[in-house]
Amino acid sequence: MNNHSSRVAFILLSLVLFCFMLLSSVHCRTHLHKNRGSFPVESHISFPPSPAPQAAVGSAAAPPPSYTADDPAVFDVRKYGAVGDGLADDTEAFKAAWDSACGAESATLLVPRGHLFLIQSTIFTGPCRADIVVQIDGTIVAPDGPDSWPQRNSKRQWLIFYRIHGLSMQGGGVIDGRGEKWWELPCKPHKGVNGSTTAGPCDSPVAIRFFMSSNLKIHGLKVTNSPQFHFRFDGCRDVNIDSLSIKSPSTSPNTDGIHIENTNDVKIYNSVISNGDDCVSIGAGCFNVDIRNISCGPSHGISIGSLGRLNSHACVSNITVRDSVIRRSANGVRIKTWQGGSGAVSGVTFDNIHMDTVRNPIIVDQYYCLTKSCTNQTSAVYVSDVSYSNIKGTYDARSPPMRFACSEAIPCTNLTLSEVELLPAQGEYVTDPVCWNAYGAMETLTIPPATCLLEGTPEKITQSEVERC
Ligand SMILES: *[C@@H]1O[C@H](CO)[C@@H](O)[C@H](O)[C@H]1NC(C)=O
Ligand SMILES: *[C@@H]1O[C@H](CO)[C@@H](O)[C@H](O)[C@H]1NC(C)=O
Ligand SMILES: *[C@@H]1O[C@H](CO)[C@@H](O)[C@H](O)[C@H]1NC(C)=O
Ligand SMILES: *[C@@H]1O[C@H](CO)[C@@H](O)[C@H](O)[C@H]1NC(C)=O
Ligand SMILES: *[C@@H]1O[C@H](CO)[C@@H](O)[C@H](O)[C@H]1NC(C)=O
Repeated sequence: MNNHSSRVAFILLSLVLFCFMLLSSVHCRTHLHKNRGSFPVESHISFPPSPAPQAAVGSAAAPPPSYTADDPAVFDVRKYGAVGDGLADDTEAFKAAWDSACGAESATLLVPRGHLFLIQSTIFTGPCRADIVVQIDGTIVAPDGPDSWPQRNSKRQWLIFYRIHGLSMQGGGVIDGRGEKWWELPCKPHKGVNGSTTAGPCDSPVAIRFFMSSNLKIHGLKVTNSPQFHFRFDGCRDVNIDSLSIKSPSTSPNTDGIHIENTNDVKIYNSVISNGDDCVSIGAGCFNVDIRNISCGPSHGISIGSLGRLNSHACVSNITVRDSVIRRSANGVRIKTWQGGSGAVSGVTFDNIHMDTVRNPIIVDQYYCLTKSCTNQTSAVYVSDVSYSNIKGTYDARSPPMRFACSEAIPCTNLTLSEVELLPAQGEYVTDPVCWNAYGAMETLTIPPATCLLEGTPEKITQSEVERC
């Protein structure tokens, strides 16, 4: 190929990839269905600064804004026409404010307090000229359920940040995904109003998705009632999350608090998460993840996985979770993989975690399966070098407090336990730990004793398997 045609091929490929990965987003629909033609084509890059239509009219009832309206570095969405009454569609105003802020030398996009902004599914695209601050002091709400979601918009994600390198999202505001009607959809994993489920696609949007971005700081926001995952990061690095509050009902399906995938150098500190699925879930391609002082529950706990679905390859390493509390949750700290996958999970530390009435406080499940039809397979994601220390508290005695269900094909190795003390939340009965093909050691006597761990290293694990990632 000559230079020109390879360039064209690259651009086409990038476009297709972009469309594929953002799965029928607004932009891609625009390109793919040009014949619909009734809505404007949005640019992926920043517009030149738009003129401010008018000076912001201060609401007498609202407390004084934290930013002065005439600071040229502050891009207040109201200056771009946002109404903020919770009824008017403020999407275009947010996009215009974003484009101006993103093109500026120094910028704060301001979502002022005392207002409720209704925003449709939107992609905020970078790269921006400089680092950008998104100051959310007011409330941002999604359309009210699937019937209010425009047909042309992606039903997989709501607020998308794409190719942003250097962003702080902060403030005392609220991002409300209004998930109630999505949770009621009668399809799996949703449950219909009367528990009825039918087969078929049933997408629900992730509330906030960061995609192919880096150097992100998210501080102090409240995110509630997401239709699906509250946060999802993929293809990102250098992510700092602090003092976040995530809240949705324990019955809301698939509403993971923070999901990361193909993302590295992540810190999640000082946050409180209660929801209907995993508190934090760590997918394939993540490494250098540090989680500290988070409180989960009710939830499904902190999870590495699921990994290896549909025979996929997954590598996860150097994950630490410490100084945290997990309450009234289906799981505590979990590693879950599907049969038939490949790759490895290694270098995982769970330290100083308090469990309060948790159904499976410590669990490795290499037989993860959402249907009853998963067959036994001979490959698996290799799990090794996992340390559990100082894990204390109570468990729901319906399940064993420790369960290491490792692959038949490839055993787990080097699981170490120290200072683990788990007592039943109710009653005297102590359920014994369950192990299958799990190699490791108790460094101190644990309660209950994990005598089912196999000593040493299995012969089957060869160097080539260790080097699989
Ligand atoms: C759910 O059950 C109630 C009472 O049995 C019934 O009135 C209602 O129509 C049902 N809703 C649906 C969507 O099936
Ligand atoms: C832990 O997080 C909570 C909730 O954000 C916070 O109030 C508390 O100060 C944090 N503790 C430490 C030691 O940082
Ligand atoms: C593991 O991750 C931490 C950050 O969470 C980082 O400081 C450390 O260097 C990493 N270790 C290795 C061996 O990469
Ligand atoms: C899969 O393997 C497990 C453990 O060896 C065994 O108990 C189970 O019966 C097997 N299932 C099938 C479908 O072969
Ligand atoms: C076992 O895993 C720990 C981390 O949990 C690691 O530091 C240690 O080197 C591993 N031991 C062996 C023999 O690989």
